[in-house]
Amino acid sequence: MTFKNIPEAYKINTLVEQKTYLVNGEIKEWSGKMTEVYSTISSTENYQPTLLGSVPELTKTEALEALDAASNAYNNGQGEWPTMKVGDRIACMEKFAEQMKTKRATVVKYLMWEIGKNLADSQKEFDRTVDYIYDTIDDYKQLDRNSAKFQKHSGVYAHIRRGPIGVVLCLGPYNYPLNETFALLIPALIMGNTTVFKPAKLGVLLLSPLLEAFQNSFPKGVVNVLYGRGRVLATPIMETGKIDVLALIGHSSSANALQNSHPKANRLRSVLGLEAKNPGIVLPDANLDLAINECIAGTLSFNGQRCTALKILYVHESISEEFNRRFCEKVDALRFGNPWEESVQLTPLPEPNKPAYIQELIKDAQSKGANILNSKGGQLSENYSYPAVLYPVTKDMDVYKEEQFGPVIPIITFTDVQQVLDDMAESNYGQQVSVFGENADTLAPLFDVLVNLVCRVNLNSSCQRGPDVFPFTGRKDSAFSTLSVRDALRSFSIRTFVATKENEMNKTILKDLLESSKSNFISTEYLL
Ligand code: G3H
Repeated sequence: MTFKNIPEAYKINTLVEQKTYLVNGEIKEWSGKMTEVYSTISSTENYQPTLLGSVPELTKTEALEALDAASNAYNNGQGEWPTMKVGDRIACMEKFAEQMKTKRATVVKYLMWEIGKNLADSQKEFDRTVDYIYDTIDDYKQLDRNSAKFQKHSGVYAHIRRGPIGVVLCLGPYNYPLNETFALLIPALIMGNTTVFKPAKLGVLLLSPLLEAFQNSFPKGVVNVLYGRGRVLATPIMETGKIDVLALIGHSSSANALQNSHPKANRLRSVLGLEAKNPGIVLPDANLDLAINECIAGTLSFNGQRCTALKILYVHESISEEFNRRFCEKVDALRFGNPWEESVQLTPLPEPNKPAYIQELIKDAQSKGANILNSKGGQLSENYSYPAVLYPVTKDMDVYKEEQFGPVIPIITFTDVQQVLDDMAESNYGQQVSVFGENADTLAPLFDVLVNLVCRVNLNSSCQRGPDVFPFTGRKDSAFSTLSVRDALRSFSIRTFVATKENEMNKTILKDLLESSKSNFISTEYLL
């Protein structure tokens, strides 16, 4: 790539030496080993990765210290946080959000450097996360209002609410290091759980400006932030059996290893967003302009590094020649550059080994009969492999089986859509699908089956998680539990209630409890 001058606002003039971590409400100094954080984006004409700073390489000792802090803060449901009034927990969350908003510029800058996300998408990730916090607060108020009542059935009064589960271990992915991590952390916290949270392998420094806000917004031990390797920190935490919820967005292999480290499987709840291989199905009657544009966005926004990305395209044989030609023209017209450059769609890959991995997928496919259809496909630079459109792809190729999570687009043709349904049924994944077509007679029976193979069928649109109020989940190896502003509150809580037989004595006690506002749980207060 050609090196361009970096705007002053985005230059790395000083390194972020993140020498602290947050445990038990204390921002602790770390004097042990540090890990340097590099960006694959070069700051010089002659390519070399840019050093951004360093983070602590914490050990099992600090991990267990953080776990103890979270366990003590929860204190078997007796802690200040899990027993706090809903309104007071919301006030803590609002305090955090207000401070977070002031850190936008820094977080956005580091999103660009650490994971190579373009400026517009980095801003969107930040803003979407702030919105998510406020939407969560609103939804929690609604949830609380809905349960601010007594029910009576068969002579029994019940006051039913949702309560916290316990201690949550939160692990987010590198492609949305802020948004997806917070989409776990925020609902977990607001429901009264306490947390240990470790940033993803990439996208770590961008959280540094928020450490203090975590410290001063929540009671001690409610949020604990660790830096280091997952295997060193998360495994010993799980082995103690003190984690009640594993909240992870990442790969099923990590999720399974962590679940298996927990000594009591029945005690562990899992909230998981895992891998996917969402197909795009282009039917013979599809509006090609629209289908091509959506397939470009679906396959290549953030270089295909989205769990919701379209990772395989099935194109009907009757239109495949035209689709392939026009699709390739559009792919080759996409602009590659540094994240802050105007209108760049393709940006450096943050994982240093990713370009080589993509090249291996290309070579494997070529050796089994696929061609690169676009002229720029596979062009290699130090931090990028230009998107390659591979065709015809067959089932024996690695790119068919693996979740590429990067810029390579396998295309398969079909004559009977049943062939696509069979492939989807056979697949390990079941998150979403995109269908491009216009004929209701063809679409109707297809939808009836697709909804049972995946959890979201997108008509003439690429796959996506948002809007965040919609349920985000998947079948098979793609997810466990449902996330959305509303569903996440349910995923991180359990229904719990106070019940009593109807008699004068109990009625008097309940009345007293309500009027005196002595209990934080038994309350019919209406939060506005
Ligand atoms: O990596 C998976 C994300 O949840 C995808 O979210 O569809 O908004 O990009 P998105």
